[in-house]
Amino acid sequence: MAATNDTRPGGRQLVMSGIRPTGFLHLGNYFGAVRNYVRMQEEFECYFMVADLHSLTTHPDTKELKTNVHRVLSENIACGLDPEKVALYCQSHIFETSELYLYLNMLAYVGELEKTTTFKDKIRLNPENINAGLLTYPVLQAADIILHRAKYVPVGKDQEQHLEMARNYVNRFNHRYGEVFPEPVAFNYGDELIKVPSLDGAGKMSKSENQLATLYLSDEDELIRKKVMKAKTDAGPTAPDSPKPDYIENIFGLMKLVSDNEVIRKFEEDYNKCTIRYGDMKKQLAEDMVRFITPIREKARDIRSNEAYLKEVMEMGAEKARKSARATMTLVREAIGLNYY
Ligand code: TYM
Repeated sequence: MAATNDTRPGGRQLVMSGIRPTGFLHLGNYFGAVRNYVRMQEEFECYFMVADLHSLTTHPDTKELKTNVHRVLSENIACGLDPEKVALYCQSHIFETSELYLYLNMLAYVGELEKTTTFKDKIRLNPENINAGLLTYPVLQAADIILHRAKYVPVGKDQEQHLEMARNYVNRFNHRYGEVFPEPVAFNYGDELIKVPSLDGAGKMSKSENQLATLYLSDEDELIRKKVMKAKTDAGPTAPDSPKPDYIENIFGLMKLVSDNEVIRKFEEDYNKCTIRYGDMKKQLAEDMVRFITPIREKARDIRSNEAYLKEVMEMGAEKARKSARATMTLVREAIGLNYY
């Protein structure tokens, strides 16, 4: 029986993560996920994919799918991901994922799946398409991860519950059929998983909801300025060292992502002395956001226009991912006892 190795023999530890091609990437995707991918590629064996099968659970119309897949790939590369260093691939190109998903479905209980937060959110938003794929979404995600026997999964805070479910399936599988998989854990450099809030202070930045309160990596400079200037503020604190309301905390939080330390310190001091001018703070934040987003947007646009290159990237990524997937599936079939011919 295979041991629950979390490295290849003599190799580096294994990392896996994915992003759905359901819209434009935003600051939450960057700071929750892609920033970690870029750092991890230097020290781990990494599998990063575009979760196109997952997108079918909520976006059955596939007219925009190819464009969206190309966009996610381009944006990942523009942020610094190197397709030579990692396996950057498309979920649907690796058929072994669907096979593993099927086996894991037998270890997933309907009662648990119905209680998943993302399932409840999605059926609230889309009550006319409550399909079984939506219910078993976390099972497919677990299959993506353990297909490479990955240990570390760089994700934002919203994915914590899915990771916990993946660990449950791993434990059930290992217990029933023998030790094949390591337990995957959500990963972030730094102490905690990240949630990048939306600019209106209500919820998080998102690819498809709340678009005027989300900063996309493809936003033009003027749009970035407009969105930041609209962020909710108030008349300012009336007593020194007051606690900050959530929406003000959010603005400081966004500033911490892109602005220099002295700038943040200055506005913290102004806040504590009740001299803060939110208009100035938002102008500064807008300029720092423009400085951060512009090079990524321009690089992504260039990459996206080169379809032949993107095809090459996908082929190269699929080849690496298939190799790893096939090795795992041999162990899986053997462990389950499907090796009798
Ligand atoms: P998706 O496409 O919604 O998001 C991609 C990544 O971005 C992170 N993220 C955020 N982080 C911080 N703040 C935010 N506002 C924010 N919004 C999104 C997400 O946590 C995620 O890391 N189910 C996954 C896709 C997936 C996957 C996988 C992930 C499919 N298979 C296997 C990891 C491993 C999803 O919908 O991500």
